Amino acid sequence: MATELNRFSKTLTQEVTNPAAQAMLYGIGLKEEDFVKPQIGIASTGYEGNPCNMHLNGLSVYVKQGVNANDMVGLIFNTIGVSDGMTNGNDGMRYSLPSRDIIADSIETVVAAQWYDGVIAVVGCDKNMPGAIMAMARLDRPSIMVYGGTIRSGHYKGQKLDIVSAFEALGKKFANNISDEDYKGVIQNSIPGQGACGGMYTANTMASSIEAMGLSLPFSSSYPATHEGKQEECKKIGAAMKKLLELNITPKDIITKKSLENALTVVMALGGSTNAALHYLAIARAAGIPLTLDDIQAISDRTPFIADLKPSGKYFMEDILEIGGVPAVTKYLYSVGLIHGDCITVTGKTVAENLAEAPDLDFEKQKMVFPIETPIKKTGHIQVLYGNLAPEGSVAKITGKEGLTFDGEAKVCEHESEIIEMLAKGEIKAGHVVVIRNAGPKGGPGMSEMLKPTSAVMGAGLGDKIALITDGRFSGGTHGFVVGHITPEAFDGGPIALVKDGDRISIDANTRVLSLHISDEEMAARKAAWVQPAPRFTKGMLGRYIRTVKSASEGCVTDEA
Ligand code: FES
Repeated sequence: MATELNRFSKTLTQEVTNPAAQAMLYGIGLKEEDFVKPQIGIASTGYEGNPCNMHLNGLSVYVKQGVNANDMVGLIFNTIGVSDGMTNGNDGMRYSLPSRDIIADSIETVVAAQWYDGVIAVVGCDKNMPGAIMAMARLDRPSIMVYGGTIRSGHYKGQKLDIVSAFEALGKKFANNISDEDYKGVIQNSIPGQGACGGMYTANTMASSIEAMGLSLPFSSSYPATHEGKQEECKKIGAAMKKLLELNITPKDIITKKSLENALTVVMALGGSTNAALHYLAIARAAGIPLTLDDIQAISDRTPFIADLKPSGKYFMEDILEIGGVPAVTKYLYSVGLIHGDCITVTGKTVAENLAEAPDLDFEKQKMVFPIETPIKKTGHIQVLYGNLAPEGSVAKITGKEGLTFDGEAKVCEHESEIIEMLAKGEIKAGHVVVIRNAGPKGGPGMSEMLKPTSAVMGAGLGDKIALITDGRFSGGTHGFVVGHITPEAFDGGPIALVKDGDRISIDANTRVLSLHISDEEMAARKAAWVQPAPRFTKGMLGRYIRTVKSASEGCVTDEA
């Protein structure tokens, strides 16, 4: 039977024309009987430098054991990762979004070059997951993603903490709202060990929605990194991969317009990260499926925001397992007609068949997820805005808690560090619309996240008094009145490049319009006088990124002409 399943690796193991490959496979310890087994690449983004990834190489070993126990050959390889927690607020952040595409390229390269029959990605941070899924879509060989799991919350003086607590402590420091001792206490206790950042931030958003899309096993996104269920999941992956090979279910069977809609519906219901918009545009393009910002808006329009999770809410991702996990939430969404049940998944079953085995949400007992009749917000929090400041679109996070409109005076920052300096000097005041530009995919480059500025604004007590707009993007940890992904970006001469201090800007989430209140003549005159800045990099990875990256409205992909 196994010879039917090794359709790629048999090129290396059975062709008499490739003795070198056979010799090398003997060299790594394979025996002749192994040559008829399918070879499974196990891509780990494990590295020691941050909590999201520090345990992934260990999980990969469990995955390999499960693969080998199912009469296949598991072969672990590593790819890179960049931690947003480590890079937020500094120039290292320029490498974060590009790392997604490097991960996609590297997994594609190893799996295709080494002739693996399937791929299992063991991933645990914001960019790892979309990068891995993009590679799976390009390769279109049986594939499963294993999520490393969310972190447990930290504790200090009776308060639960996570990574955003550390950033918000900085804002409190600026506003003299925290003692030196408590500042240190928060920093030392926010991160208790392994696992991805603990709210419904980008990593947990992508893990939950990829599970809903069908590319990871049920509960993959719900088990915290240190939960025994995570190891059990890793050991079960081998059997699941064997079944995928036997049924020849590939990512392009799983990633469809309907399953992308399922993923984005879960993002909206859970109050997930705006980065999901960027990543699902890119995943859809990798799979060859047309998906636009307007499709995302349509899903937002029909999906209520029902989960009281951080960053805007009360609960952490670790709490979701107690109410039945992401499958219970997805099952509820399916029961009210918001999820397509007929999509195939990595279990070999449909979404509906998987959900039949999931627990039900108990609205009497749990208060984390609300019924759709009494949502936190009737429609999704991710809103796509157009207008003369964003002719090709922008993405806002509007939970409703910060209001639906904002009208204020522009305060322009050419770099995110400027807002930190302005906050420290008390120059950012109620009523300001802070504009952070030249932070786009080309201008940044790398479309940095603005978690440090938005957390500092929150910590300074200005969260409900100012708005922030940018051609950069936001962390999943960001909350407040924020609009990002503005296209065209400033580097390309988009209108955001033409804003001056004191201009009036309005944001209307009802009409979804972002407006710069100057006359068309003034806009044209400023455009005529605008000079494109020199690229910040011309060589190296970032130089190449500037030359190849598409706009945020096109998912910032780098593999298209
Ligand atoms: Fe990895 Fe937050 S830095 S999930």
